[in-house]
Amino acid sequence: EKGTYAHYMLKEIDEQPAVMRRLVQEYTNASGELEVDEEITSKLNNSDRVYIVACGTSWHAGWVGKKLIENLTATPVEVHVASEFAYDMPIISEKPFFIFISQSGETADSRQVLVKVNELGYDSMTLTNVAGSTLSREAQTTMLLHAGPEIAVASTKAYTAQIGALAILAKVAGVVNGNENAVAFDLVHELGLVANAMEVLVNQKEIIADLAQEKLSTTRNAFYIGRGLDYFVSMEAALKLKEISYIQAEGFAAGELKHGTIALIEEGTPVIGLITEEVMGSHTRGNLKEVESRGADTLVISMEGLEKEGDNIILPKINTLLTPLVSVIPVQLLAYYASLQRGLDVDKPRNLAKSVTVE
Ligand code: F6R
Repeated sequence: EKGTYAHYMLKEIDEQPAVMRRLVQEYTNASGELEVDEEITSKLNNSDRVYIVACGTSWHAGWVGKKLIENLTATPVEVHVASEFAYDMPIISEKPFFIFISQSGETADSRQVLVKVNELGYDSMTLTNVAGSTLSREAQTTMLLHAGPEIAVASTKAYTAQIGALAILAKVAGVVNGNENAVAFDLVHELGLVANAMEVLVNQKEIIADLAQEKLSTTRNAFYIGRGLDYFVSMEAALKLKEISYIQAEGFAAGELKHGTIALIEEGTPVIGLITEEVMGSHTRGNLKEVESRGADTLVISMEGLEKEGDNIILPKINTLLTPLVSVIPVQLLAYYASLQRGLDVDKPRNLAKSVTVE
């Protein structure tokens, strides 16, 4: 099934351009328009607040989803870790709409929340890769990721499919509501550009493998920093690195680093900066300078048009709302090569299972 690939993770990283294209196809109707189940868009549009509940990588996708839904539908969104929400529920609005994001659809922490949401009679949807999964059956409605089976423990193509699907949901719901941003957003075109950009990046494996060797081969810890969407991807980048390379890593809001954590920067500490947005990106560059002057070994991933001399990886230019779909590709590959170069079990890291069915 892996074919010529040494690991499922690398195969699944490589599949992402095709997954993006398939996702668009699956949600395009006979007249060539994006379409989402009417029950879902009306539940979202009738709600006064969306609550996204998830764990791990799916939770990270939820943060990007918040940005997309707020931008394209003007409905406020909260993002919650399932295991916290289950036992410490925040104040819920009058007309909430719950979105459970789960690749497997079997995560016990998320199910725990869904059981309570059902008891309370709230509207819900599960965004999952697995039709007929527990979370899919128990929520009122389902959107599928159509990403194909994800075998590697470290989630890659499910994360990008989750963000793509949330973008489609936000766009369609926004258009139904006549939201100007949603109407003006040519998502099919933009996701086509995303798929092309992903392809460019998955073809830069040697460059990224060399960077992993240079920056991550002996370190015990590492930091990812960014602002806005780049912060959300920094959290996902750090999780990916931790779980398969066992390097202690943290994804940090770039501006917050100096409020304490900068004390951890030593001679040679790797700090990887993500820069996909102009104003916030220029501040992140300032934060990179701060850590460099304290000895950090920096690596910069920047978007075309914002690049500076010396940046290590340049992302093809795509729409500012969709940057996580491309900025995550090189950080997935950095994690993959860091794990490989350390001789670790890339697809089956220690202490982890693909679906976590205990609370
Ligand atoms: C990280 C990873 C986990 C899962 C988390 C949620 O690579 O795979 O963090 O994202 O356990 O799993 P699902 O999405 O199946 O609910």
